[in-house]
Amino acid sequence: MCDGPILAGEENSARWVAVCEKDRLTEQKIICTKVGGVDLLVIKDGDQLYACERACPHEQADLSLGRVDDGQLYCPRHLAWFSLVDGKISSGWPSRALRRYPVRDADGQIWIDAGSLSAL
Ligand code: FES
Repeated sequence: MCDGPILAGEENSARWVAVCEKDRLTEQKIICTKVGGVDLLVIKDGDQLYACERACPHEQADLSLGRVDDGQLYCPRHLAWFSLVDGKISSGWPSRALRRYPVRDADGQIWIDAGSLSAL
């Protein structure tokens, strides 16, 4: 887990929170973090960065135990997968889409927009 977040001010309603060092993503593809009491994942897939909820929207499995391949996050329980691009679940599963959040890297850190969490 990452240490406490650092708040950074920015224009509009974005509230970027630093959640971990960028270097951690060279060792792990999936990192667990928590922002505003919400469990989240930061995922690196090739050159792409994603942030999403940690609990599977289907039956709440821990998606940090899943695997990532070609823009898809596979749930460890039923092996359905979610598109990291639009959040949609693979066909045939009765589930809402995976919630995803704005994420970026800057200054050697990974940042998530905490303002997007309060919009839930
Ligand atoms: S719990 Fe994740 S697909 Fe069923």
